[in-house]
Amino acid sequence: MVQPLTESIALYNGVEIPKLGLGVFLMKDEDELVEAVKAAVEIGYRHFDTAKIYGNEEYLARGLKESGISREEIFLTSKVWNYDQGYEQTKLAFQETLDRLDTDYLDLYLIHWAAPKYVETWRALVELYEEGRVKAIGVSNFQIHHLEELKKQELMQPMINQIETHPEFPQNELHEYMEENGIIHEAWGPLGQGKTDLFNQPVIVELAAKYSKSPAQIILRWHLERGEVIIPKSVHANRIKENSEVFDFSLTAEEMEQMKSLDTGVRYGSDPDDQERLEQSSIRPEETK
Ligand SMILES: NC(=O)c1ccc[n+]([C@@H]2O[C@H](COP(=O)([O-])OP(=O)(O)OC[C@H]3O[C@@H](n4cnc5c(N)ncnc54)[C@H](OP(=O)(O)O)[C@@H]3O)[C@@H](O)[C@H]2O)c1
Repeated sequence: MVQPLTESIALYNGVEIPKLGLGVFLMKDEDELVEAVKAAVEIGYRHFDTAKIYGNEEYLARGLKESGISREEIFLTSKVWNYDQGYEQTKLAFQETLDRLDTDYLDLYLIHWAAPKYVETWRALVELYEEGRVKAIGVSNFQIHHLEELKKQELMQPMINQIETHPEFPQNELHEYMEENGIIHEAWGPLGQGKTDLFNQPVIVELAAKYSKSPAQIILRWHLERGEVIIPKSVHANRIKENSEVFDFSLTAEEMEQMKSLDTGVRYGSDPDDQERLEQSSIRPEETK
């Protein structure tokens, strides 16, 4: 087995999160996910990102078990879905996630979106953290105003905010706010989710040639230069490996400056302030029948 990919960032409570993880969004085929996870562990990945709504927590547990890796060597993240939010419901959802993942703790638990009950949900996460059932807590898809609202509660602050980020949508204002407030920036869709033409952009193609790297590796390195945690998803072992080979070179300040030309300010994912979507997705499935 190769060396584990252990380069990490310290959260404000001292917990270390590996800078690179495997995202498993849209991995709906159990055997495919299991094979991807086993390949990732073999390559050296020690960080995995799932969510209740992905419907694959059990598959991830199977993949990790079959890989033979011990629980303590893995950094495991999951997220509370919108219709499970609220104080009591979140605690139940957390236990169900633990059961599906076949573990008795999580390394990181996130509020998936700032759905209407996110403040009560945060209160539950703080208690789970204080009880030692999760090593770190954070949020996802939170805007500055959501983070400011949490600050007013005079509870702990999130350690991480996992947000859509790629060179076309760098989220500079939110990035700076998080830096000032000690919140680590974790990028979802770090490669643009396969929805962009980023890989063919001349700036990226030229840098790829200069460093003998692929466009995907240039993009992932761009995130790392910005101090972000990355969780690229792939079901292909060769790409999982490619995405891990980003710790042996760096981009210069000038090259980072050139990459700014790719910023279109347009997101591919949902708008975190789309209240109608947040309300709709907060209705529990049994209540819609
Ligand atoms: N918090 C949230 O709301 C949220 C939302 C979305 C995602 N996420 C998390 O973030 C993770 C990553 O985001 P994502 O999966 O949406 O998008 P992504 O990682 O940016 O892109 C994944 C896509 O890129 C392809 N790909 C991966 N590596 C590649 C490479 N080296 N060269 C060419 N293509 C490559 C994959 O295809 P193949 O699989 O076919 O290789 C897949 O189509 C997710 O898996 C999930 O864990 C969180």
